[in-house]
Amino acid sequence: MSLLKEPDFGTPAKEGAATISLEVDGLPVSVPEGTSVMRAAALAGVDIPKLCATDRLDAFGSCRLCLVEIDGRRGTPASCTTPAADGMVVRTQTPKVAKLRENVMELYISDHPLDCLTCGANGDCELQDMAGAVGLRQVRYGYEGENHFDAIKDQSNPYFDFDPSKCIVCSRCVRACDEIQGTFALTIEGRGFASKVSPGAGESFMDSECVSCGACVQACPTATLQERSVIELGMPSRSVITTCAYCGVGCSFKAELRGDELVRMVPHKDGGANEGHSCVKGRFAFGYATHPDRVLRPMVREKITDPWREVEWEEAIGTVARRMLEIRRLHGAGAIGAITSSRCTNEEVYVVQKMVRAAFGSNNVDTCARVCHSPTGYGLKQTFGESAGTQDFRSVAQADVIMVIGANPTDGHPVFASRMKQRIRQGARLIVIDPRRIDLVRSPHITADHHLQLNPGTNVAVVNAIAHVVVTEGLVDESFIAARCEGFDEWAEFISREENSPEAVQQLTGVPAAEVRAAARLYAQASNGAIYYGLGVTEHSQGSTMVMGMANLAMACGNIGRDGVGVNPLRGQNNVQGSCDMGSFPHELSGYRHVSDDAVRQVFENLWGTTLLPEPGLRIPNMFDAALEGTFRGLFVHGEDIAQSDPNVGHVTAALSAMELVVVQDLFINETAKFAHVFLPGASFLEKDGTFTNAERRINRVRAVMKPKSGRHEWDIVCQVATAMGYPMHYDHPRQIMDEIATVTPTFAGVSFERLEQAGSIQWPCDADAPDGTPIMHVESFTRGKGRFVPTPFVPTEERSTRRFPLILTTGRILSQYNVGAQTRRTANIAWHQEDLLEIHPHDAEDRGITDGDEVTLASRVGQTKLRAKISDRMPTGVVYTTFHYPVTGANVVTTENSDWATNCPEYKVTAVQVALARPAVRDRTAHAQDGVLAVELVD
Ligand code: SF4
Ligand code: SF4
Ligand code: SF4
Ligand code: FES
Repeated sequence: MSLLKEPDFGTPAKEGAATISLEVDGLPVSVPEGTSVMRAAALAGVDIPKLCATDRLDAFGSCRLCLVEIDGRRGTPASCTTPAADGMVVRTQTPKVAKLRENVMELYISDHPLDCLTCGANGDCELQDMAGAVGLRQVRYGYEGENHFDAIKDQSNPYFDFDPSKCIVCSRCVRACDEIQGTFALTIEGRGFASKVSPGAGESFMDSECVSCGACVQACPTATLQERSVIELGMPSRSVITTCAYCGVGCSFKAELRGDELVRMVPHKDGGANEGHSCVKGRFAFGYATHPDRVLRPMVREKITDPWREVEWEEAIGTVARRMLEIRRLHGAGAIGAITSSRCTNEEVYVVQKMVRAAFGSNNVDTCARVCHSPTGYGLKQTFGESAGTQDFRSVAQADVIMVIGANPTDGHPVFASRMKQRIRQGARLIVIDPRRIDLVRSPHITADHHLQLNPGTNVAVVNAIAHVVVTEGLVDESFIAARCEGFDEWAEFISREENSPEAVQQLTGVPAAEVRAAARLYAQASNGAIYYGLGVTEHSQGSTMVMGMANLAMACGNIGRDGVGVNPLRGQNNVQGSCDMGSFPHELSGYRHVSDDAVRQVFENLWGTTLLPEPGLRIPNMFDAALEGTFRGLFVHGEDIAQSDPNVGHVTAALSAMELVVVQDLFINETAKFAHVFLPGASFLEKDGTFTNAERRINRVRAVMKPKSGRHEWDIVCQVATAMGYPMHYDHPRQIMDEIATVTPTFAGVSFERLEQAGSIQWPCDADAPDGTPIMHVESFTRGKGRFVPTPFVPTEERSTRRFPLILTTGRILSQYNVGAQTRRTANIAWHQEDLLEIHPHDAEDRGITDGDEVTLASRVGQTKLRAKISDRMPTGVVYTTFHYPVTGANVVTTENSDWATNCPEYKVTAVQVALARPAVRDRTAHAQDGVLAVELVD
């Protein structure tokens, strides 16, 4: 449980400056220089009335409620905008300021509807509180004068209402949108009495630039901007701190409840990753957890063509165990395995991989990181020695040059994007490397210094060209390299070759050499240069090479081991870092230790009382191939929709159809469940206890706000399957699982639920050397000792545009939807995105006679699908883009089986395609199994 109302100190904290001492109402207080009188008073325990001030926003000084008297100074300054000074004596409760405040409140209240008792904000309204705080007893001006009582409500947003009749024009919403979110969607229109808050140019919220992050709603001191759920359900009465289950930013929230009903999610001010901010998904899109589509009873069926039969848990668990054992008896342990979920908790993932290794008797366990960030794990391990990003998110506030490669943070990692944009508005320079003109390239008050709009598939050539400039122009950090790295000479010889120069590759990459040179100089000469990257780096045939290329570049410029620098993957799913950490890969036990290491295996064998195989098991694509060959027959899929998310869906569904037993544990009947023989209902994040690990290696607590709707915990179901297979697994609580993880995983040695309760969150490694965790990695030396330069020759992908398939398709996601859409499609977020669209450059569209909104076919050498076109000059010519949030689109029907050479991560970002206006002949849809996935047919 946590406080419903967190303390608000009125103005932001100041850090690092000298300390000054003053006296407020006779109480002594010492604060950092630059602190406001209001904050100093709050720290001394004195609350000064305020309306326009809040500690999330810079002081504004408009409401005049916070007036104080200061000895030796004339007048009554506003305490929020007045800096505290050494020796200052402040009086906050004199008759003079009391009278002034009462007058101010009188004016506000005379133009405010007096419906407090029926207002949705009753009990959580700062105007109401302040009226009490200033002792308002009468409104001498009456209520009859000119007022705003009839102002029209804007209810266009599905999650919050805007009722201007209650607005006090404090501007907190406008400033929240500007300063915190960085969208600049709101303005104050008009002057004096006529001034009012306006989204865009007098538009509704839905028609404006608003991205529905909710920062303005949270900042509003009245009921003007208010969550619809609060209006409908009433004010919450208690809260539980937990972690968002969408993306890898890992925002902390206070889940606020009324009784047992979740009313709203409020971003937690003390959340290490988000510090009180959120995006539309985390704050508002939680309704899927109680959606009627949830499957709450276990189900089994003999064949996938049979109807499902609801059964008791014991029968479902017994069926899984019996059929897995039967396959193992007939075909060996190599014929069974599991896929862990990057959406589930560390504790759940750990027990699934333990079940596979100890109860199934194979190493056939893999995770969806295979299809996203496995090259990150490989590339950073090879170069730095640790399979994780180097920084915490806060670090970006110290960056002078930010390089964003193959990532679209404003859509994919919005809360981190807001932090990044804050830093850029303060003056940090920006380099974007992406085929698309993503929002960051040009958005309010932000313009990228360089946008290297490369051809898809040429990342490595571009990063090599940047490094070539750094080395050949003498921009390397020689002392860093000499002290901290190895392999530089060999790498420098390679990278200096003419074939890697910007001029040599510009034809291939499409990026003018002069732009590459300028970007390289900017990054290399920055005091602090930071690289942030996403799936546009990893999901390529050279994904691992590119990760190593970026690591080489960062080391060459000495940009590792302190605030403001580093190489940072922006992780996709909420717990993809954690699922990798927990030993989900077929070749690695927890903490990224190879299964062939006898000493490591011994640790697990001793604790688990069993023998483990020293050879790696099957990766996901190998499982599919083996299934089609008949050697892999039983698969346990934990919270993952591989039939929608994995490439070449036709191949995946053929493999699933070939298996004797597919077990799906999930919230909904997803595409994969259509091929399942046993369905085990899962629990939503609101029903779970455990931990998620975000992209900063931050281990955050997930706390249950309600009981599992299916009646069972996922970790317990997995333990029961293992036990029924003859390998007893039992825990009373997830904290015991974490204790076991800490016992066998050196980087988690100091982690426990108790430590997390005290610290709030911890960034691994957390051990005896770093008992409080490690925000910044590789500070004194790299995890592997010396950072290793690895030559990264560019090898073009085999996927090429041809006359038949002349365009390149690249895929991604958008802000309001998440991954395969199973959650967000079951929320009001569909208001923003009802279907996947194909973005295409106007010239490519015109060549094909396509206009905006036309239905088009999208065909590759492996399949075809149909969707609507969106003409967009964000795209370069020759490249088209779509999302994969809707099963009916089946974007992955067309993506190929090409993959990263080191990790098999699919090459989602490069598929040669043709786009044409949909013709009747290709409009037929043949549904697989039940509905949703399109038939896979080659088109001529
Ligand atoms: S909408 Fe709320 S935050 Fe914005 S100006 Fe009005 S009262 Fe202030
Ligand atoms: S919801 Fe967010 S983006 Fe929209 S107006 Fe409010 S602060 Fe701005
Ligand atoms: S940024 Fe990611 S973690 Fe944060 S609220 Fe949005 S979806 Fe959730
Ligand atoms: S709180 Fe200081 S002027 Fe409004």
